[in-house]
Amino acid sequence: MNPGEIWFGEDIVDRIIRWLNKSEIAKKESKIVDIGCGNGMLLIELANEGYTNLHGLDYSKKAVELAKAIAEKQNINISYSECDVLEGLKDNYDIIHDKGTYDAISLSEDATENRHKYIENVYNSLQDDGVFIITSCNWTQHELDQHFKVKFYLTEIIATPQFKFGGVIGNVVSLCVFKKNKI
Ligand SMILES: C[S@@+](CC[C@H](N)C(=O)[O-])C[C@H]1O[C@@H](n2cnc3c(N)ncnc32)[C@H](O)[C@@H]1O
Repeated sequence: MNPGEIWFGEDIVDRIIRWLNKSEIAKKESKIVDIGCGNGMLLIELANEGYTNLHGLDYSKKAVELAKAIAEKQNINISYSECDVLEGLKDNYDIIHDKGTYDAISLSEDATENRHKYIENVYNSLQDDGVFIITSCNWTQHELDQHFKVKFYLTEIIATPQFKFGGVIGNVVSLCVFKKNKI
């Protein structure tokens, strides 16, 4: 079975997992959801690292079917369901992860409105002491911070490969960890 693409490459997945493994927030039994999980490869890697409470959501029926088939073939227990993040997540999580989904939403029609819905829905489904991890190739770390600061504060930037152009150093992708603002 061809699992398809690993969005932004395996190196980014490794960086996220290394961060989770060393963080004090992530426990092996933490309830973790990948929103816009695609083929679910990040969740498979997390399962291989010993994380046990794993959930994948995607609005694409085909993506959910593929992710389910991959997990089943490897005898890995991950719950997958069809869900449009813009309509709400229907559950609460300790860790919410997104790699490329906020980017896709940012390119949709009514992108500004949809981005606000997304931020609200992620906020409502994250436990108060939880973390939200996002990887983006559309937005810089500063831009993500500007978008999310209505509801979240940036707690950590996970280092990603850099490039230099015209004397300016930039990151190929932004990988940020947010926590909920205290009310
Ligand atoms: C760029 S792909 C990334 C897939 C996966 N996260 C990865 O890293 O390989 C974006 C994913 O988001 C899903 N997606 C886009 N908009 C969504 C929405 N509103 N609700 C749920 N999933 C969505 C797409 O179906 C697609 O699987």
